[in-house]
Amino acid sequence: MSVRIEGLTVGYGRSSVLRDLDLTISDGEILVVAGPSGCGKSTLLRAVAGLLPIVSGQVLVDGVPVRGTSRDRALVFQDDGLLPWRSALRNVELPLALQGVSKVERRERARGWLDRVGLAAFERYLPRELSGGMRQRVQLARTLAQGPRLVLMDEPFGALDARTRGAMQELVVEVLRETGTTTIFVTHDVDEAVLLGDRVVVLGAGEVDVRREAILAAVQG
Ligand SMILES: Nc1ncnc2c1ncn2[C@@H]1O[C@H](COP(=O)(O)OP(=O)(O)OP(=O)(O)O)[C@@H](O)[C@H]1O
Ligand SMILES: [Mg+2]
Repeated sequence: MSVRIEGLTVGYGRSSVLRDLDLTISDGEILVVAGPSGCGKSTLLRAVAGLLPIVSGQVLVDGVPVRGTSRDRALVFQDDGLLPWRSALRNVELPLALQGVSKVERRERARGWLDRVGLAAFERYLPRELSGGMRQRVQLARTLAQGPRLVLMDEPFGALDARTRGAMQELVVEVLRETGTTTIFVTHDVDEAVLLGDRVVVLGAGEVDVRREAILAAVQG
């Protein structure tokens, strides 16, 4: 899916957070959005997801203006949002059930994705019995099982330790590349931006080179 953001102004109530923003993301590309806390990264993702009313301008997904949420666009938060009383497998199955996927097929798809994220042996575990990194992997499996064509990730690995974060980054890049999923990935972390991004945009400073120094300079203004 390709995304074109044209003259986008969005905000909350009377105050606008993003003003007249232009941005394009090509099909299959991973775009990293960085910038200081409060600059509007999450707001941008909410607008693309269709969760915020657009004041002016537009967000076009494959040329069609976004008017609300869609199954094609999945938002992944830092907080994993798993249901505590459902096992890993049943958490991954839930959105498929809501889409009306048959019981047999959703079980098979959910198992396939849990396997892909290295959790085949943990399908019966409840979220509280899993580590933070494992819960993030369940969330990733749940998101990808739905077959979104555009994934919006809001600092999904912010709460993980360095090692787990590294493993998750590798896995995410591998899966996103393999499935050709268009991605907007928000992060504070400059190393993560360099590792994941085909392109990097710093809100307020525009597109920057995918190099550590260039990103640091832009983030620090
Ligand atoms: N629900 C809301 N209602 C009112 N104002 C909000 C709301 N959510 C965010 N804001 C304001 O919008 C601005 C941008 O917030 P946003 O969450 O997009 O920043 P961010 O770049 O994601 O920051 P962080 O890196 O800390 O997550 C902030 O000034 C914030 O106070
Ligand atoms: Mg945010």
